[in-house]
Amino acid sequence: MVPKKWYMGTNTKMYKTIAQTNSFISRLQDVTNDIDRSSFELFVIPSYTTLDSANKCRDKNLVKLGAQNMGWEEQGQFTGEISPLMLSEVGCDLVMIGHSERRHVFMETDEMENKKVKCALAHGFNVLLCIGETEQEKDFGQSDEVLYRQLQLGLLGVSEEDASRVWVAYEPVWAIGVNGKPVEVSYAEEKMTAIRNCLINCFNEGGKEIPIFYGGSVNSENAVPLSRCKDIDGLFIGRSAWDADSFNAIIRDVLEDRKKRSLA
Ligand code: PGA
Repeated sequence: MVPKKWYMGTNTKMYKTIAQTNSFISRLQDVTNDIDRSSFELFVIPSYTTLDSANKCRDKNLVKLGAQNMGWEEQGQFTGEISPLMLSEVGCDLVMIGHSERRHVFMETDEMENKKVKCALAHGFNVLLCIGETEQEKDFGQSDEVLYRQLQLGLLGVSEEDASRVWVAYEPVWAIGVNGKPVEVSYAEEKMTAIRNCLINCFNEGGKEIPIFYGGSVNSENAVPLSRCKDIDGLFIGRSAWDADSFNAIIRDVLEDRKKRSLA
């Protein structure tokens, strides 16, 4: 059996300047240069203003570049938004849609995420759709319903063919960021299996191939245990990945463990 591709990526949120992003990406490329990219994908999602120079400094064979958000029209009266044409111009491969902070700090709805997903796919990007339940939803036993709703509405109208360019990140809202509580691996595993089943429901066989990542307080301690979950294809990391050497150490630990389990 050919091992499935493994993904590792980071969203640098509103943290790195142009110079900091360039030096982060350059260092990350240097230290991960020897890792075979045929079964491993590395991606970085920095701020809009860094994308042009990040694209020029990156090696496309080593690092995929993503945007943290996108407007759903090519142009128009949408002050403060960035269009798919603008993201193509600066060389993005990937657009992240529906990150928890977009949904909960900036009040984006599933309907808005769906417009962005369809627009990004129509413009040839890979889409990283982020989903996750709040702590209250979890406590009320609503997690699966919330995840199904975010997937079914977020991906409404996406064809089976276009779904091959969709990636999904499962990020429980209560596990994200400085105040996040680390997830129980068994809980994360259960939710990723629920996500896989929902994707199969939506896209038949194609749903089996959509990469699912876990994100939310991933660190050097829990990365390997999380990477052993049944329906996981990668890890999506914030804080613990923002130093290239620390990120590289996590990548190596996970890939080494996968090799031992004959998955890489
Ligand atoms: P964190 O962020 O790893 O710092 O919790 C994850 C995310 O927001 O994607």
